[in-house]
Amino acid sequence: MRRPLVVANWKMNIGRADEALDLVRRLRPSLSRLDKTDIVVCPPFTVLVPLAEVLASSPIALGAQNVHAAAAGAHTGEVSPSMLTGLCEYAIVGHSERRAAGETDSDVNAKVLACVEHSLRPIVCVGENLAEQEAGDTDAIVAGQVARALEGLSPEQVEVCVVAYEPIWAIGSGRAATPAAANRTMGLAVRGSLANQFGESSAQAVRVLYGGSVTSSGISGFMAMPEIDGALVGGASLTSEFADLVRLADDSTM
Ligand code: 13P
Repeated sequence: MRRPLVVANWKMNIGRADEALDLVRRLRPSLSRLDKTDIVVCPPFTVLVPLAEVLASSPIALGAQNVHAAAAGAHTGEVSPSMLTGLCEYAIVGHSERRAAGETDSDVNAKVLACVEHSLRPIVCVGENLAEQEAGDTDAIVAGQVARALEGLSPEQVEVCVVAYEPIWAIGSGRAATPAAANRTMGLAVRGSLANQFGESSAQAVRVLYGGSVTSSGISGFMAMPEIDGALVGGASLTSEFADLVRLADDSTM
């Protein structure tokens, strides 16, 4: 059984300590009562330290939104996985907004390997753009991204990874994929690719999330799908709506 996981990606929002602390203090009481769902907040780097202090004895874990692949050195403005250990349990890698800014599959792969080496669980983002979807290329694009992102991991290492299927056209557009279409791609392209590369048993162990315009009104439909283990949430994670969304996800779990 895969444990459900809901991840908040704050992106470049809520980066001031007072705002960030205010939001997590509002979320924490209701989220702390849930026990079937893993909850992760990925804020900007600037507020990881104060949030880690406030969340220390809560079930809410922290994640980074990006990492650099190198352990240390002359990389101005970057943060390495080793700097995040003890602070974060997860790190988002290969978000489409970073891929659009030039991150390649091989960059994503290097970051995934660096995360795993430093005991951070990578949340590896994959997804097709609108033209690729309209051309019927979704499965090939997504399966290829999964395979290249995870190259070089052992089957045991891949089991700590999370894959987030985020169709680019659904991100921030208010136009989510249907639960059935997302479930299909996540089963065939994501888990199919994992099974080819790492074997069926590891493929069944990896948690696969859906992301792209997930709201509290849509979450239950996604959670009802067998291949969907949770969600990566942008806009709806920036307010107390996130508490309702996670509670509904938790309620959908047997
Ligand atoms: P939205 O939920 O705002 O569409 O963002 C999705 C996303 O990109 C999460 O990583």
